[in-house]
Amino acid sequence: MHIDVISIVPELLESPLQHSMMKRAQEKGLLTVDVHHLRKWAVNEYGQVDDYQYGGGAGMVMMCEPLTKAIEELSQSRRFNEIIYLTPDGNTFNQKTANRLSLKENLLLICGHYKGIDQRIRDNFVTMEISVGDYVLSGGEIAAAILVDAVGRLLPGVLNDETSALTDSFQDDLLAPPVYTRPVDFRGWKVPDILMSGDHKKIEDWRHEQSMQRTKERRPDLLDE
Ligand code: ADE
Repeated sequence: MHIDVISIVPELLESPLQHSMMKRAQEKGLLTVDVHHLRKWAVNEYGQVDDYQYGGGAGMVMMCEPLTKAIEELSQSRRFNEIIYLTPDGNTFNQKTANRLSLKENLLLICGHYKGIDQRIRDNFVTMEISVGDYVLSGGEIAAAILVDAVGRLLPGVLNDETSALTDSFQDDLLAPPVYTRPVDFRGWKVPDILMSGDHKKIEDWRHEQSMQRTKERRPDLLDE
């Protein structure tokens, strides 16, 4: 998978992509992420990419021209399956969307700042608008990093058996069950006996029951779906 990202603060994406699973995915050649500085397509030598909003009001808006040039230039090297704008008023990101996006070849992510991007870019280029939650971040980069991580780890070959996504929370609309490791007794806090029984069927049933209980308590909305 190839992911291009357009940003005015590319540094914000460096660390999340250079460690752990995302590092592994890129080293294995399963994922390529290219972050492009929007200022490369600025409207003047001062690096301007934003301007005041029509109609008045506080806050700048990211201009059509630099974004259009960026999108059109990048589209010459790749046919994007989705052009995604990260924005708090987008559709809320979830595991289903991550699964769906992990099947695509080329994604283009646009990170907004200030009051956001000119609506005409959304109307004419953007194919998906995604929010990572009901709160406002100072820019789209951290949201883009969340999307890249959630999607990147699902690419075949990134996770091994031990880290398999099949047992993740949300994969079957259930939260994951509790997990334990050594020691079996820590300060009198004991690991449930069933996990040491060696009876795989019983353990699997117990885990499923725990998942159900946890989901009922914390996320009943998932069961309604
Ligand atoms: N940009 C600012 N806040 C955001 C959010 N919650 N999701 C996606 N992009 C954003």
